[in-house]
Amino acid sequence: MPEVIIVKNQEEAGELYARSVADLIKSKPNAVLGLATGSSPLAAYQALAKIVKDESIDVSNVQGFALDEYIGLPLTHPESYHATIHRTVVEPLGLDPAKVHVPGDVLNGAPLEDGEKIAAAGPAYDKAIAEAGGIDVQILGIGTDGHVGFNEPGSSIASGTRIKTLVEQTRIDNARFFDNDINQVPTHCITQGIGTILKARHLVLLAFGEGKAEAIAETVEGGVSAFCPASALQLHPHATIIVDEAAASRL
Ligand code: GLP
Repeated sequence: MPEVIIVKNQEEAGELYARSVADLIKSKPNAVLGLATGSSPLAAYQALAKIVKDESIDVSNVQGFALDEYIGLPLTHPESYHATIHRTVVEPLGLDPAKVHVPGDVLNGAPLEDGEKIAAAGPAYDKAIAEAGGIDVQILGIGTDGHVGFNEPGSSIASGTRIKTLVEQTRIDNARFFDNDINQVPTHCITQGIGTILKARHLVLLAFGEGKAEAIAETVEGGVSAFCPASALQLHPHATIIVDEAAASRL
């Protein structure tokens, strides 16, 4: 079962993540980090950037693989996950941009109609992760419906990286990044599968606030089910869930 750690706030959660990842990079300079977008991991990236600077840790060989990307947004779009990961992780940490990958990189905004190209991108991404040696530590947020990455309810627990349709709730949740206009939110995404995520050696899921309480209760105490994709963490031998009191309130 996942270990659940209740902390005061995002900063304290960020410190826990950052200390363990900094130690990992010191012992394994070419560590492979699994990266996530969303607001939940931001304090963790900031804390890690601070430790990297304060302790002069060499991150030039660190590799990174992001969880997901929208279909149809060019890499340069400010809300593409490519741009977001580069802005929030690669630049503050000083990672080598060439060593950090996002599932939509090869698509660069290719439209939904470009089915063959999109279909090929998923397996190629999983292959690239395997060739890099597998992910050492995957940071995860959680959607209010229990999604991880963009694996919406109903996603197969064995799934690899693939195209998915976004459910309306996720598009509503993410409209805040698109002028509060749901019509601007892409309808599809490419995401690491639950099976891909479960291959990472350590999973660290961060969740804060009352809005995540239901999803966290399902994740930790519900049955393992495709209806709450994050419940698959129960199958992982080394999963850590770090939450604040509000997100833990229904446990
Ligand atoms: C998006 C991302 C998820 C993320 C979720 C929650 O849907 N694809 O990876 O976990 O948002 O975001 P936040 O941490 O901002 O609540």
